[in-house]
Amino acid sequence: YVLTAVFLVLTGVLDDCLCDIESIDDFNTFKIFPKIQKLQERDYFRYYKVNLKRPCPFWADDGHCSIKDCHVEPCPEVCIRYCTVGKGCLAEQLEAFIDWARYDDSQDHFCELDDERSPDAQYVDLLLNPERYTGYKGPSAWRVWNSIYEENCFKPRSVYRPLNPLAPSRGESFYTWLEGLCLEKRVFYKLISGLHASINLHLCANYLLEETWGKPRWGPNVKEFTRRFDPIETKGEGPRRLKNLYFLYLIELRALSKVAPYFERSVVDLYTGNGHEDAESKALLLEIFRDTKSFHMHFDEKSMFAGDKKGAKSLKEEFRLHFKNISRIMDCVGCDKCRLWGKLQTQGLGTALKILFSEKEIQNLPENSPSKGFQLTRQEIVALVNAFGRLSTSIKELQNFKVLLQQTR
Ligand SMILES: *[C@@H]1O[C@H](CO)[C@@H](O)[C@H](O)[C@H]1NC(C)=O
Repeated sequence: YVLTAVFLVLTGVLDDCLCDIESIDDFNTFKIFPKIQKLQERDYFRYYKVNLKRPCPFWADDGHCSIKDCHVEPCPEVCIRYCTVGKGCLAEQLEAFIDWARYDDSQDHFCELDDERSPDAQYVDLLLNPERYTGYKGPSAWRVWNSIYEENCFKPRSVYRPLNPLAPSRGESFYTWLEGLCLEKRVFYKLISGLHASINLHLCANYLLEETWGKPRWGPNVKEFTRRFDPIETKGEGPRRLKNLYFLYLIELRALSKVAPYFERSVVDLYTGNGHEDAESKALLLEIFRDTKSFHMHFDEKSMFAGDKKGAKSLKEEFRLHFKNISRIMDCVGCDKCRLWGKLQTQGLGTALKILFSEKEIQNLPENSPSKGFQLTRQEIVALVNAFGRLSTSIKELQNFKVLLQQTR
């Protein structure tokens, strides 16, 4: 009974949102997952430009990890051709980038923008570098998450996180503290916790099971999953974190449904230089938007920042700065592969937040000219779709663990 305990707890209604987990599972499995999977394989979405060489701004780098699986495969020939020599990314940059860059400077970003023109920025083929178990752990990995929770989640030092090894007690006061927070700050914590859960879930689902004659075999590791998420082994933390994963999924889902009008305009093109491909990618993306709209149990962000105007504005600003700082902490992740996916997922979430707080601007976009009030860079679009793709995959993987655990029983 211990093994399936996590799924006994993980059911029903989510806090701060009128949604139930079962409906989200069904919606994701049958509607979203197959389509987003297909979308992520298209050229426009598989090449992500990222600077993995920015130094950590907060503490001295303890050197990059040398574990083989932390390594990021460089862009292969075809990707380089597509991205630099061919018409693909370069043409797009020449036409739109100058305008965008000028515009970007004036926007409220939730993330630290990587300097896309820096010589250190490179295109990465995401399909060649799947997010999976790398063996990266220990003090360096712990420090990153610890500084996120301790220094960036509105948490006073005197309140200890549950399971924090440094906590004098067992961190029981944490949830009392969390419930006492305003909705926005509680949401912030849940988003970070959901992201953390999602990343850990991928590591469990794509674990290095064995390696014979240099040939690795990757797959789900039930023991690792139980260690990280079982309610008894984690003193109830595991299911709570998984609920936060669902919450994060709903937030990003909401952002996708809100940003649809931006992409529905004919002036927006998912440009790779191949007109036929581009039209197909766009059609698929719009189909996903339609699905997100057909799902009725959304998080209602209207209740966020709804206080008096001045208070709401400063709270939103605080929220944004905290989040931006977290995106900078990603430059402190010592394992390149983890850094890549950490940066992509924080940028995706940052883009989702930017969308949610730009509702008015998105509704007032002109049909046939470049948008002044709201703009997304290619990097943001790629991050948004892939980050949501990761969450969709996590929820799918969770279903798979449910089956595996029942079999083990
Ligand atoms: C940003 O994060 C670092 C590292 O956790 C922390 O020391 C710093 O106080 C944070 N800054 C802000 C403005 O939150």
